Amino acid sequence: MPIVLTRGIPGSGKTTMSTALVADHSNRFMRINRDDIRRMCFGGDVYADPGRARDEGERMVSLIEVASARYALEQGFIPVIDATSLNPGYLVRWTGMAGLLQTPLVVWDFPIGIEEAIRRDAARPHPVGADVIRAIAGAHLDEGGALPAVPAGALRASGIEEVMALVSDTVGEPV
Ligand SMILES: Nc1ncnc2c1ncn2[C@@H]1O[C@H](COP(=O)(O)OP(=O)(O)OP(=O)(O)O)[C@@H](O)[C@H]1O
Ligand SMILES: [Mg+2]
Repeated sequence: MPIVLTRGIPGSGKTTMSTALVADHSNRFMRINRDDIRRMCFGGDVYADPGRARDEGERMVSLIEVASARYALEQGFIPVIDATSLNPGYLVRWTGMAGLLQTPLVVWDFPIGIEEAIRRDAARPHPVGADVIRAIAGAHLDEGGALPAVPAGALRASGIEEVMALVSDTVGEPV
C-alpha cells in the first residue's frame, strides 16, 4: 500500500483534489491534513494560548500526522497527505518514513502558474495572500516555475490519472 503525498504551492488545488479523491473512494483513501489537525487540536485561532509554544504545537501536529498515516496503512487505507511538501526536509522525512514502513511514496504534483494560484487563493474564504505564494514559489520552484526533483526512491505523478495508475501498480490491482 503506498503513501500519497501532495506537493504544490498554496492555491494549486491539493485540498480540493484530495478531498474529491477520498469522496470518490471513501474506503480506499484517507486524507490527512496538517491544517485540519491544527484546528482539531488548537481551535480556529491556533496557538492563541501564549503558554503553548508554536514549535511544541507543530511537533504535536507532526506526531498526529505520521501516526494517522501509519494507522491508515495498518487498516488497509492509502494515506493521502494533503500538504504543500515544498520544504525539502519535509519531503525527505516522508521518503524516509515510507522506507521504514516498506511502502512506496507517490508524490502527487500540482503544477500551476503563480498568477493562477494567486487568483484562486484570492477567491477562497481564507486566502494566504499573494505575498506568501510568491515567497514560497520563489524559494522552491525553479526559474521556469517547475517543481523540483523528488528524493531518490520516491515516485512522482502529476494529475489524477497518473496518480491512480501508480497507486494501482503499487497495490497490484486497479484502484
Ligand atoms: N482545477 C481547479 N480549477 C479552478 N479552481 C480550482 C481548481 N482546483 C481548486 N480550485 C480552487 O482554488 C482554490 C484553492 O484550492 P485549494 O484550497 O484546494 O488549494 P491548496 O493547494 O490546498 O492550497 P493550500 O496549500 O493553501 O492548502 C479553492 O478555492 C478551490 O476551489
Ligand atoms: Mg490545502
